[in-house]
Amino acid sequence: MTATAPPVRLAVVADPDDRPAWQRAERIADQLALPLVTGGDAVPGAFDLLLDVDADCIGLREANRPRSRPLVIDLVHMSRMFRPTAGGRDPLVRAVGPLRENRTVADATAGLLRDAFRLACRGYCVTALERSPVLAVMIEDALARAAAGGDRRVREALTRLSFLHGDACDHLARLADSQRPDVVYLDPMFPPRRHPALLKKDIRLCRLLAGDDTDADRLFMQARAVARRRVVVKRHPHVPPIAPDPSHRIHSKMIRYDVYVTSA
Ligand SMILES: C[S@@+](CC[C@H](N)C(=O)[O-])C[C@H]1O[C@@H](n2cnc3c(N)ncnc32)[C@H](O)[C@@H]1O
Repeated sequence: MTATAPPVRLAVVADPDDRPAWQRAERIADQLALPLVTGGDAVPGAFDLLLDVDADCIGLREANRPRSRPLVIDLVHMSRMFRPTAGGRDPLVRAVGPLRENRTVADATAGLLRDAFRLACRGYCVTALERSPVLAVMIEDALARAAAGGDRRVREALTRLSFLHGDACDHLARLADSQRPDVVYLDPMFPPRRHPALLKKDIRLCRLLAGDDTDADRLFMQARAVARRRVVVKRHPHVPPIAPDPSHRIHSKMIRYDVYVTSA
């Protein structure tokens, strides 16, 4: 949980009759300092979110929606949406800029790893950073599953993707000059909606875990100080830029990318 995240009652759930799953759940509950309960103990009202652990997969679900499918970060499924041939038209790629000049990207707000993995599929070398400990566990689970899986294209993309759990601001501030990325990419949480129940499940769960990213300005300042060529900020189309005068903007249907060129 982060300094900006709201308090959420969270538990790890596993089946005690499934030995490998239960042992894995014990390790994760220990690491996250969370209670470990059985499915029977996870009664509605006792917790807000449940981290479902089995031997080879971790999923997150809302405790009050027992029938809903857990949210699982599935890179093989994601890779089907990122066909290499469509790369040139991808607004995220247009915002990050040509691969030959903008090869290394620090994604300082990894979340569910979608944008980081999308960029890795498109050929960029990406370091993804996430500060929520629960999301970090889910990301590490997703990376391990994908690396062990049989999809060659996914495994090839993973050679360009590394993940670090921690605060991106601190990480960027510690980089030596030779380690500075060409691009820093930021996707802070969009402003809260009046009716959170109408948000898509992945966004709703991510917000419950990570909060509102109220310190995004500080991260932007650090990103601007470090990026060799540009900072890209994903925004809701109706909210103002995080800082005045982006160098240019890329508009797509539901989002806008504000690009701040940092190279001379
Ligand atoms: C909207 S989500 C990002 C979604 C992501 N782009 C994706 O494709 O799945 C924002 C995430 O940024 C993370 N975050 C915000 N500020 C951060 C920081 N300073 N360091 C690390 N992670 C941060 C939050 O914890 C949250 O998970």
